[in-house]
This record gives sequence, structure tokens and C-alpha cells, in this order.
Amino acid sequence: MRNETMAIHAGYEPDPTTKSVAVPIYQTVAYAFDSADHGAALFNLETEGFRYSRIANPTTSVLEKRVAELEGGVGALAVATGQAALHFAFVNVADTGGNIVSVPQLYGTTHTLLGHVLPRQGIVGRFAESDQPDAIEKLIDENTRAVFAETIGNPAGNVCDIEALARVAHRHGVPLIVDNTVATPILLKPFDHGADIAVHSLTKFLGGHGTTLGGAIVDSGRFPWAAHADRFPAFNMPDASYHGLIYAERFGPKAYIERARSIYQRTMGSVLSPFNAFMLLQGIETVALRVERHVENARKVAEFLRQDGRVAWVNYVGFADSPYYPLVQKYFGGKASSLFTFGIRGGHEAGKTFYDSLRLITRLVNIGDAKSLACHPASTTHRQMSAEQQRVAGVLPETIRLSIGIEHVSDIIEDIDQALARASVRPGRLEAAE
Ligand SMILES: Cc1ncc(COP(=O)(O)O)c(C=O)c1O
Repeated sequence: MRNETMAIHAGYEPDPTTKSVAVPIYQTVAYAFDSADHGAALFNLETEGFRYSRIANPTTSVLEKRVAELEGGVGALAVATGQAALHFAFVNVADTGGNIVSVPQLYGTTHTLLGHVLPRQGIVGRFAESDQPDAIEKLIDENTRAVFAETIGNPAGNVCDIEALARVAHRHGVPLIVDNTVATPILLKPFDHGADIAVHSLTKFLGGHGTTLGGAIVDSGRFPWAAHADRFPAFNMPDASYHGLIYAERFGPKAYIERARSIYQRTMGSVLSPFNAFMLLQGIETVALRVERHVENARKVAEFLRQDGRVAWVNYVGFADSPYYPLVQKYFGGKASSLFTFGIRGGHEAGKTFYDSLRLITRLVNIGDAKSLACHPASTTHRQMSAEQQRVAGVLPETIRLSIGIEHVSDIIEDIDQALARASVRPGRLEAAE
């Protein structure tokens, strides 16, 4: 099936008992066993079925199948949020003493997870100088357990060369884990280019309506865990917490995702509620259509900003002079993401006034909603940093991050135009302000 069809149908046939056409919300904690033997077989993972909703739930299971199919993977695990998905994705490959080598352009909280939180548990995030393959390769050693990248960085907007990163990771016997939240499987299928594991915040474009938190890990089924038994003993040695089960032997290509569920989801929770799974499924039905409109609107907004004298710069990778333009052609068929940054003339004060003057575009910290959204990092997300720290993080005083929605593009542009008018320094003061 193609994207549009998978987004609506994958993972569900009308329920055989009720003939319900919409995916039912199975709001239940537990599931009845036919017999003691049936219960035992479920607990031994010898038979398919549900036993307790912390481990799996029929509504959530449809969501998992749908996201897995959209990504072209063998299985998925849905969890409460994107951050929970990232946490499980990392600890499923790395134990104390292991390291994850990452590109530096990351969503702030993921940077904190790798740079501050996991290190307290003995797993170190190593940040490369850039997203270039040689910068990543320099940091890989015998304790590396994965290479990590956001396929499109938030908020930097950089586009990673997935094929090159996968080659580097595989040369050293480690998987490439990617966060495909901003690109979505509509713009990019990372497994087609060698990535092994994809992680999503379903909260963003996939859910698409700013109503529901959710996350997912998707397994390509292609990483050969058994071939790298020394680096990944957890997949290749008997697991004492599960009757001596050996994941690579029992689950073959699904070893990674089944271990994530059996070890981390089972013992740590972070469960997605069935209602939220239902809400996310509703959102996913229209993701292919929405992404088309997001992309189209963003291009028009970026072009409007670029020709406007009140705007100092626009960091939009769909422009032919962007260093990422060739990768946008190669990986996204020329469809640049609707997440980009720009700066208006007049520095911090002008940026802040612009931001405060928006009427249609919502001021917040979220991306990927049907609504157009704006963030002024210098006065919000990066406010606690010094000017120098902000500069290193890619945040200039005037930087505005936009996530362009699917409203009529003329309304979006009119809102930006009136906010620019309010924020712009009066003629004659422009040079002084600069
Ligand atoms: C690229 C990316 N990954 C992960 C997350 C975390 O997702 P969640 O808010 O669902 O935990 C975000 C949130 O903004 C994000 O932008």
C-alpha cells in the first residue's frame, strides 16, 4: 500500500465481533485467560495475545502496526511520549559503560537526556562537532552502542545524510538510530537508506492536532544482533529476568522491539493510554495530506520572508543556496520541512515585538500541529543561557522558529506581515539598529 492508504487502513480490519469500522478503544487493564495453560503460554511469550495493558493493548497495537507499516519496519512499540521512546531506544542497546555517538543538532530535551541524564546511569552521550560522517566516526570506539541523529534537526533544520551515517555505523558494527519526528515517514523512510531503528514523537506531525502526547520506536528488523554478540550480549545471552530467553534466537528480526517491550515497557511503564492511541490514529489518517500542505505553505512563507526587506535572514533548506539543498532533493524529493527559522532586522527587541504581535500564529513550544506555531527561543526556551551560549546553540537574539500549519497560506502571510510591520524599526533607524 502507498502512504495515503496505509495511514488509513494499516493494522486494522473491522473487528470480527462487533464489525466496528472505527478502531475500538479497548479501555481495559487486563484480558481473560481461557485456562491456566493459556495464561502460562502468554507469559512465556509462546502464544500471541494480550495479558495486561502495560505490556500491550489491542487499540495501541493497531497504532503500532500502522506506524511500523508506514516506516517499513517489522514492528513497533508505542509509549507515552517521544521522550519515553528515545529513553527506551537508547537503554535497549546500551548498558553502563556504553556510549551513544550523536550529531550535535538535537531537540533540547534529547540533548539533556544524552548529555546529563543517561550519564548518571553510566551511559554517555558523545556529541560530534557536526552532523558530518567523519565527525561521527572519530567518536566511535569499542564501547559505542549506537549512532544517533535526528533526520531533520529541531530547531536547526539540518538534514542528515542517512546513507553516509548508516555506512559509518555499520562499519563499526553498531546500529543507526534516528529520530524521524520532523520528517515523518511521509517525507522520508529512513530504513530505505540504511537506518536500523526509527523513533517518533507522535505528538507532532503524525498526531497532527496538538491534542495528544505519544511516542513510538520502530524496528527495521535488519540489524544483525547475533553477528555482534560481543558488543550486544543482552540480545545474545540468556536473560535471567525472562527464564533464560535469548532475544536474538527467539525473536530473530524482531529481537530489538520485543526486548524493548518485554524489558523496558514491562518494568518501567511509560504506557500510552488506549484513548491516546485512538486519538493518534485519527490524526495519522490524514498525515499524508497534511504534510503536503505543510510543505507547500512553508515554501510560500519562506519565499515571502526572503524577499522582504524587514527580514535579515531565512534558514530554509528548500532554497537552492542552502548547504542542505542537495540532501533535500535526494531524501525528500525536494519537499523541505515546514519547520524553519528566520531573523528580522533589529535584533532581540525587534524579534520579541514581532513575536508578541502575532495574532493567528500561536506563541508556544510545540511543532507539527495543523495550526501555525512560533517560538522565540531567546526569550523562552534558551532564555537562561548567556548570549554566547545561545550563539553556540544556534540561537540568535532575533531568531524565530516557525512550524507552518495548514491554514490558508494568505492568512499566515498576512499575520506575519502585520507583525513585521509592528516590529520593524522606523526608516532611518535601521542602520543604527544593525
Ligand atoms: C524531534 C523531537 N523528538 C522528540 C521530542 C519529544 O517528544 P514528546 O514531547 O512527545 O516527548 C520532540 C519534542 O518536541 C521533538 O521535537
